[in-house]
Amino acid sequence: MYVIKMKGIILHGGHGTRLRPLTHTGPKQLLPIANKPMSQYCIESIKGAGITEIAIIIGGLGANKVRDYYGNGENFGVNLTYIEQDEPRGIAHAIRLCKEFINNEKFLVFLGDNIIQRPITDFIDNFTKSGYDATVLLCEVDNPSRFGIADIENKKIAKITEKPKKPTSNLAVTGIYLLTPLIFEIIDNLKPSWRNELEITDALDNLLKQNDNIGYEIITDYWKDTGTPEDILNANRQVLEHICTRPSTVIIDESSKDWIGLKGHCIIGKNCKIDKSATIGPHVSIGDNTIISSDVVIENSIIMSGCKIDGGLNIKDSIISANCHLHGNNKDKTKKIFLLGEGTKISL
Ligand code: TTP
Repeated sequence: MYVIKMKGIILHGGHGTRLRPLTHTGPKQLLPIANKPMSQYCIESIKGAGITEIAIIIGGLGANKVRDYYGNGENFGVNLTYIEQDEPRGIAHAIRLCKEFINNEKFLVFLGDNIIQRPITDFIDNFTKSGYDATVLLCEVDNPSRFGIADIENKKIAKITEKPKKPTSNLAVTGIYLLTPLIFEIIDNLKPSWRNELEITDALDNLLKQNDNIGYEIITDYWKDTGTPEDILNANRQVLEHICTRPSTVIIDESSKDWIGLKGHCIIGKNCKIDKSATIGPHVSIGDNTIISSDVVIENSIIMSGCKIDGGLNIKDSIISANCHLHGNNKDKTKKIFLLGEGTKISL
């Protein structure tokens, strides 16, 4: 295996307010995309680039769930160190907590709710060889006022602005940063923002003002910051299209095979019972031990483990957390959209 000395940091804290009620019972980064926690894609991406020493920032609700799932990392081929953040005081605050772990080397930061499809090895190689104080990965977006935005002049970053009201570029700063220990000094002198957080965009902009020495790379493939339910469904669709190589493909665990009759671009977990008259897909992920009875229709949705759905419900664009029970009335066939926290019971 290709291994490099650089260390990685995954941010797994935060409030996840925009994803409530999904995040009432655990961190957003453990929400499944195509039946795999979204932060596992980060670990795989970092490991794919040859980095195996990784710190995970955890904090608040469900921090223990992160430790329980990833353990010391050996099942994932990496070596994990957990670093606690008492409160979500900002991305720059979380990075500052890793100063000792980083120990004066160049390093990589990956926000645990960012999904990127292409390998990041060449970005890391370029940064390692460069003399830059930092390299940011940029991606064109349709709604730049939702992101930290970089202005480029003469092939150099001229300015980084957090959520500009009147954006002058559509290049978002993604949640993948290549940094040097110089960032720790910058963060030490940073003032909290209006939302009382130490902002990474402020830190990068200050670094830019100090040295004018930040590089950038542009991601032209799929990248998503999964802050909202729509983002999560978008990422689910994208990953399903990537792993189900043909439109008709479905990925079904062996233990669920007996019950299935499905449309394409779906993934079905272990021990599921799906009635043959149910219509599932396209773009549906179903977790383990879920039971779907006759005449249920589901498209473009994530159904987590241990759910029961019956009564001929017609569901689209929904995220249904673990252990939810939904009973339709067999008459109303209009499409329903649900965003349900763990253990919700609904009878129509
Ligand atoms: P955000 O999406 O900016 O914040 P959030 O997760 O609190 O969500 P919301 O705005 O809906 O309340 O965070 C980006 C990433 O950084 C995400 O993976 C969580 C992580 N994070 C931390 O680990 N510590 C922090 O202090 C903050 C603010 C974020």
